[in-house]
Amino acid sequence: MTTWSGVAEAYRVSFATLCAGTIDRLLDDTAGPRHLDVGSGTGELARRAQARGRTVVAVDADPEMVALSSQQHAGTTVQAALPHLPLHCRFDAVTANFVINHTPDPRAAVRELARLVRPGGRVAITIWPSDPPAWASLVQEAFEAAGVVSPPSRRLEPGLDFERSVAGLTSLATSARLAPLGARELRWEWRTTVDDFWSGLAGGVATAGQVLAAQTADVRRAAERAFRDLTSALVGPDQVLALPSRAAYLLATPAPNSLTGPTRPTAGDRTGGGRRARRSPRR
Ligand SMILES: C[S@@+](CC[C@H](N)C(=O)[O-])C[C@H]1O[C@@H](n2cnc3c(N)ncnc32)[C@H](O)[C@@H]1O
Repeated sequence: MTTWSGVAEAYRVSFATLCAGTIDRLLDDTAGPRHLDVGSGTGELARRAQARGRTVVAVDADPEMVALSSQQHAGTTVQAALPHLPLHCRFDAVTANFVINHTPDPRAAVRELARLVRPGGRVAITIWPSDPPAWASLVQEAFEAAGVVSPPSRRLEPGLDFERSVAGLTSLATSARLAPLGARELRWEWRTTVDDFWSGLAGGVATAGQVLAAQTADVRRAAERAFRDLTSALVGPDQVLALPSRAAYLLATPAPNSLTGPTRPTAGDRTGGGRRARRSPRR
């Protein structure tokens, strides 16, 4: 599993702009007024949800991400980790953009999202598919050229893992008693620069960044040279690197008669437990 400790700023300038490519889809497919965003990262989804008039509760496991998120929107940001969130109310919309795949128990994590959506509300989830998108293949190629050696796999045990695909995500949702409303692949173009992309990897973001961090200094330098060689042919005159990207996407609603557990279907956005970040001025 990937650790998110100490990478928030490197994430903000690099992969956050990649993950932002699906945000408008998730917001278009859900409705407020009460919106829960889990694994909120920099808070960009929460910011855009608020711009649509929603009252947002954001949750992230990492304290630096919580600090970034709380600067982006006027809602509450709670530090807590799936699969157990200290929330005791239900929301009209629950989003988890590229988060479920980072949790220690993805099945239980989706059950927790299902617990927190009101009857008739919507849950929208994205994950990276196992079949790598173009940007991930570029990293793979650069790493291979530099002789990067992968540390032992930190994948989940087979009993906890799931198929990283639209079908795999759908199966998690149905086992959490969510009824799929739409399940498909999303495609978009990630517009970044070579420097921003590399700064995410060099900053230890995500699995690739952590694999790179585990290499010797010589191998890291060779990986950067290979990455810059490969990408130099792809940048446009404006220095923009435009890379096709794909995600597995699921939109779902609670299945009839699926309401279980201690959560009360209340109208407020009461949160309990967890560490709450200071509210920041509305921007
Ligand atoms: C790939 S980032 C996605 C962030 C954000 N959703 C976005 O679209 O930019 C994954 C985020 O999930 C958070 N995270 C990882 N494990 C988590 C967990 N078990 N519960 C809640 N958040 C978690 C990380 O701290 C990080 O902010």
